[in-house]
Amino acid sequence: MNEQVINSLIESALDAQKLSYSPYSKFKVGAAVLLKDGTILQGANIENAAYGLTMCGERNAVFRAYCTGYKKDDIVALSISSTCTPPASPCGSCRQVLAELIPFDTPIYLVNTHGDKIVTTPRELLPLAFTEESL
Ligand code: THU
Repeated sequence: MNEQVINSLIESALDAQKLSYSPYSKFKVGAAVLLKDGTILQGANIENAAYGLTMCGERNAVFRAYCTGYKKDDIVALSISSTCTPPASPCGSCRQVLAELIPFDTPIYLVNTHGDKIVTTPRELLPLAFTEESL
């Protein structure tokens, strides 16, 4: 994949931290999805006083892609940003959702505000996934 495009995706994920609504944890997560047509859509974590209703940044970004009319095969890459070191890795719920909603070998760039970058995939994050094929 073109390095310039990947850098734009990562910049967008870092920028998306500004959209985070996280008054309780104060932990800002930004995310960005790259689509086949070049569009980049952002998401961020959105918390609630009833803590369990919080939605993670990466799920919001992927849900946004679907709600904009894109499908699984339109998704080319995902980036997730945080401020911690090493960069935050998706929680268990996000791994399950990513395994179903984005292609299993999609590159996922985990980044932070210090310039660290880890590249992974849904396949690596959730081996032996329970999927629609299991049913
Ligand atoms: N969070 C995410 O947005 N993504 C993850 O994969 C891990 C956790 C958010 C949820 C909550 O708003 C904050 O980070 C602290 O858990």
